Amino acid sequence: MKTLRTISIMAALAVMLLCTSNSQAQDQSALEVIMARTSIRSFTGEPVSREKLETILKAGMAAPSAMNIQPWRFVVVTDKEKISKVFGTRSKMFTTAGAVIVVCGQTTVMRKPYGQPDAPATETPNMFWYEDCSAAAQNILLAVKALGLGAVWTAGYPGEQRVAPIAEVLGIPENVKILCVIPVGVPAENPNPKDKWKPDNIHWEQW
Ligand SMILES: Cc1cc2nc3c(=O)[nH]c(=O)nc-3n(C[C@H](O)[C@H](O)[C@H](O)COP(=O)(O)O)c2cc1C
Repeated sequence: MKTLRTISIMAALAVMLLCTSNSQAQDQSALEVIMARTSIRSFTGEPVSREKLETILKAGMAAPSAMNIQPWRFVVVTDKEKISKVFGTRSKMFTTAGAVIVVCGQTTVMRKPYGQPDAPATETPNMFWYEDCSAAAQNILLAVKALGLGAVWTAGYPGEQRVAPIAEVLGIPENVKILCVIPVGVPAENPNPKDKWKPDNIHWEQW
C-alpha cells in the first residue's frame, strides 16, 4: 500500500515536471527574443490590451537607472482617433498601430546639495536621463517582441523640433523631454532580423 502511494506521488511529480519543462520550452529565452527582434513598421490595426501594455511598461521600468533615479515617464495613447491625429502626420505607420508609447525623461531631479543633509532639496539637472530612458526603451522593444507584437523606435531627442508638436498636444511639461515615440501593434509584416554580428567591431583585451 505504502509502495503504491510512493509510486503514485512520484508519477504525479514526473507529470508536473514534464508540464513545467514543456511550458518552459514554449517560452522564448531572453537571447532568442534579443536575436529575433527587428523593427516593425506595419501593423494590422488591432488594439493592444491594457494588460499587455502594462507588462511592456513594467519591462521598461525594470531597466537600470543611474543612482536609481528612474527618470522615465511614459505617455500611452490607445485611442485610435487620437493616435491618427497626434502621430499620423509624422508617419503613416502610426495610423495602424494598436497603441503608441511616448518614452519621456524627466531631465531634472529634486536633490540636496552634496554633503549638506540639512539643506533643502533643489531642482538639479539629471545628466543621465537619456541613458536611463534608452535602457527602458530597449526593454520595451524586447517585451513587445516577447509578447508576439511589433514596434519600432522612432526618433525624439535630441531632435526636439520634430517632437515639439507632440509634446505640446500631449501636455508634456517643460522639464520632461521626449526620447522616442514607439508605435506598438500586431505585426502586418515579418521581416528577418538583420545580421549585425561584426567581429571587427570587437577589440579583445586592447584596441
Ligand atoms: C535612436 C534611434 C532612432 C530611430 N529613429 C527611427 C525613425 O525615426 N524612424 C524609423 O522608422 N526607425 C527609426 N529607428 C529604427 C532604426 O532604423 C532601426 O533600429 C535600424 O534600422 C536597425 O533595424 P532593426 O531595428 O530592425 O534591427 C531608430 C532607431 C534608433 C536606435
